[in-house]
Amino acid sequence: MGIIFEKCGNGEESYFLLNTPSSSYIISLLKDGIVSHSGWGRRIEKWSGNSSIWKIDRGVNLPPDLDPRNLSLDTLPQEYGTAGKSDFRPCAIEAALKDGTNTLDLRYFSHQIIGGKPPLKGMPATYTLNDGEVQTLALKLKDTVYDIYVTLFYAVWAERDVICRWVQVENKTADKIKLEKVMSACIDFASSDFRMLQMSGAWGRERKVYIRDLVPGTQGIESRRGSSSHHQNPFVALLSKDASEDSGEVFGFNFVYSGNFEARIDVDYTESARFSMGINPYNFSWNLEAGGAFVAPEVVMVYSKDGLGQMSRTFHDLYRERLCRGEWKNKPRPIVINNWEATYFDFNEKKLCELADAAKAAGVEMFVLDDGWFGNRFDDRRALGDWFVNTQKLKGGLSYIASEMKKRGLGFGLWVEPEMVSPESELYKAHPDWCIHIPGREMYLARTQLMLDLSRKEVTDYLFETLSAVFASAEISYIKWDFNRYMTDVHSDALDSEHQQEVAHRYVLGLYSLLERLTAKFPHILFESCASGGGRFDPGILYYMPQIWTSDNTDALSRISIQAGTTLVYPPSAMSCHVSAVPNHQTARITPLAQRAFTAMAGTYGYELDMTKLSKDEIAQIAEYSELYKKIRTVVQYGSFYRLVSPWEKSDKVEKYAAWMNVAEDKSFAVVTVSWVYAEALAPKIVLRLKGLDENAAYKDTKTGKIYSAKELMYYGLLFANMWAGSASEQILLERV
Ligand code: GLA
Repeated sequence: MGIIFEKCGNGEESYFLLNTPSSSYIISLLKDGIVSHSGWGRRIEKWSGNSSIWKIDRGVNLPPDLDPRNLSLDTLPQEYGTAGKSDFRPCAIEAALKDGTNTLDLRYFSHQIIGGKPPLKGMPATYTLNDGEVQTLALKLKDTVYDIYVTLFYAVWAERDVICRWVQVENKTADKIKLEKVMSACIDFASSDFRMLQMSGAWGRERKVYIRDLVPGTQGIESRRGSSSHHQNPFVALLSKDASEDSGEVFGFNFVYSGNFEARIDVDYTESARFSMGINPYNFSWNLEAGGAFVAPEVVMVYSKDGLGQMSRTFHDLYRERLCRGEWKNKPRPIVINNWEATYFDFNEKKLCELADAAKAAGVEMFVLDDGWFGNRFDDRRALGDWFVNTQKLKGGLSYIASEMKKRGLGFGLWVEPEMVSPESELYKAHPDWCIHIPGREMYLARTQLMLDLSRKEVTDYLFETLSAVFASAEISYIKWDFNRYMTDVHSDALDSEHQQEVAHRYVLGLYSLLERLTAKFPHILFESCASGGGRFDPGILYYMPQIWTSDNTDALSRISIQAGTTLVYPPSAMSCHVSAVPNHQTARITPLAQRAFTAMAGTYGYELDMTKLSKDEIAQIAEYSELYKKIRTVVQYGSFYRLVSPWEKSDKVEKYAAWMNVAEDKSFAVVTVSWVYAEALAPKIVLRLKGLDENAAYKDTKTGKIYSAKELMYYGLLFANMWAGSASEQILLERV
């Protein structure tokens, strides 16, 4: 288990074997300290030498004293490729050096095998509860000329098929260097016989799964928007050609970072594939002063020999157990009513209380007051930054409305969008230089707002004080933290021209430090992140806020696709989902209540509609769904997740229906959900083979009382028929007997 370091081959070479329960990752140390990547895949116990190095006496070879002359960096699989020597592939690191060049030649310097996983200072990362969970290899490389050291970290999990990588660069020269690119992980796969999976989209249709074959040249995804974005999630998987939901090899990569990123795969002329992931070099550089160090954020790498389903469950378990933190990490999440789609900006105390009455009768536990409660916020054109109560709408202030909720037995939550400022606001008047803008250039507004310059300490200090006062001003147990624009005009008034390319990264670090302080100060608050829906759905955010508003699109059918993509990597507990009105406000589609409810029950559940307009019968029906969710929420939020049809396989089935399962950790209970996505007359029957049950047990359908053996359910399946004409969705609860 863990990390082995030993000699191999003729004794001149040695290797590191990084073993997780079913995978091995091999790094070889060749002659003269050359560090080569030797493979990542099924677990082996020993490595007997590098048969995978293509030695060819063409191209550019190593210096003459580094015989053999057929060993070339151009074809050598590397751990961390550099620029300027004979590796012509995109490099992992680039720095402008004192001599004006960007050439680095990194060779093995030393290594350390550490029990446990060191934290990344000021940055989110997975963590351990005891040192036995992980062994970390710190592999230190040094440039052949300058005292520049690059340490590659590999945290190897003992009980999970996970290796986390990150990088530290130290400048021990007497001069400043300028880092222009520092990838957090780089791997040279010996072959390019893979398909690449990515999750792309836009506002309202986030995280759609796309799969394509690798071809020579570059393929990749990135964000240049200042946040991880709706458009590309910082996740990529490489799939063996035969990989499917439950079989085949899958390599998943997820970047624990919420800003600009790049993930790329470059297939070269030898048909090997270089994968790299890290902070986007676009609009990035870092002045590394003499004696300074720079740390590049973590990449979580998951190996699955059993297809995408197993990859997802490995990510889910890791993120739930060792990324999310705080009091709410393992707590059942409350059922929420959010007033956004119910009232938008148009509310007062009376209206909110009426909505709360209806919601209470419908089984809701938490009332979340969305946008519009502060400053002169009557629409989305003003007042961001003015975090004091709008007394025209809320005469009694936040404490009154919170106490009204408490009277009704409801918790009280509040929406904020602290990273922003409206030009029409008191904050902007007082501190026009606190927004991100380029002096002398016209400012670009989005939703009529600007971003505050979180790279500045005085700005995050101000936000900490202001928000602390708001959070303490009433009994607030839930915060929805929104972020509704992308970053343009990237410039900070507090930095000189040499440091402007640092702003986007410094912003993210500023955000993290603010979240760290606030979540520590208000540990009882459940924080939910949001970015016009799912525009910042990434593991960096999950470290601070254990759930995220998945999408502004609340249409059940759209959500089935968005949530399917989201759960490819992120656990159901992270995915905030609400039942909304029909016709749906984003798509105008009408879907049955059951379908909306069962779809929202795939994550942390709530409502977002004007319940005061519903009849008594409708409220009673909704109350039944709330009761049902209370019964299943621990299993949904903290159990194992299985896709019963895999939504990204091109097939007739997939276009017609979706089906998934949540199984309790001890397998004593399971929830099966099926949903038609395409209406048809006399729709064909669906037979679903269940997954993840206790094979030797029997299960009772809690509604019909019928008992089935698990084997029957898993090998022969359950029949679903005639659904479309009615609710379009069905949910079955199975209890082990
Ligand atoms: C964003 C969020 C919505 C809502 C509005 C309020 O769009 O995603 O859920 O909070 O802002 O302005």
